[in-house]
Amino acid sequence: MKLLIVGAGGHGKVCAEVAEKQGYTVRFLDERFPAIKAVEHWEVVGRTSDFSNFVESNQFFVAIGCNSTRNKITSELLTSNAQLVSLIHPKAQVSQYAQVGKGVLIGASAVVNGFSQLHLGCIVNTAAVIEHDVIVRAFTHISPGAIMLGASETGVQAWIGANAVVFPTIKVGAYTILGASSFTNKDLENKSIYAGCPAKRIKETQED
Ligand SMILES: CC(C)(COP(=O)(O)OP(=O)(O)OC[C@H]1O[C@@H](n2cnc3c(N)ncnc32)[C@H](O)[C@@H]1OP(=O)(O)O)[C@@H](O)C(=O)NCCC(=O)NCCS
Repeated sequence: MKLLIVGAGGHGKVCAEVAEKQGYTVRFLDERFPAIKAVEHWEVVGRTSDFSNFVESNQFFVAIGCNSTRNKITSELLTSNAQLVSLIHPKAQVSQYAQVGKGVLIGASAVVNGFSQLHLGCIVNTAAVIEHDVIVRAFTHISPGAIMLGASETGVQAWIGANAVVFPTIKVGAYTILGASSFTNKDLENKSIYAGCPAKRIKETQED
């Protein structure tokens, strides 16, 4: 099984290790090619825009932390009929009743409980917890140690910071960021940055 990972940064290396544990042979596409031709022991074989040369014989995973860039590249790959996989660390706990979309990373020690949904291109990072009946919409990033409690939701391209907590049934807006170690027990507007305990709106995001 040959896997091309788009993005050979720190997040890409974490994804590559998970992919190897799933039995893939990993190579990278990265914008720094041809200046760099390898990252650690993994070969870099082209830039992102070269992906169409590899579509016939490889599967793909997009390992870009920036939600909007991950969305853009994933859309290009899907338009070209590239086959997108999800990566699930063998030491993550994922309920048989959870729904996991394409292009999703579930990191080491993460927990995804039953009847939750992880939509296209989400990141559930190291040791994050997705409780029951949670909806994580497309291209959202749940950072290391963050907790989405029962029946909470995010809009698309949200970012929940490290160790942040979203209370049960709370809705986090699309393109919205909840800062590291913050918690929210109230719904959060779209396109906003919130931080603190409880979280307060500090500014708008530039994302769209
Ligand atoms: C919330 C966040 C996005 C804001 O970043 P920013 O837009 O650059 O904002 P600033 O750093 O200018 O901070 C603005 C104010 O909010 C405060 N603030 C920022 N993050 C905060 C947090 N997590 N909790 C409480 N207050 C916070 C700052 O102290 C500052 O307060 P001040 O105006 O009184 O000095 C960022 O601090 C954050 O928490 N990012 C998440 C990091 C993370 O989890 N990474 C995981 C990678 S896998």
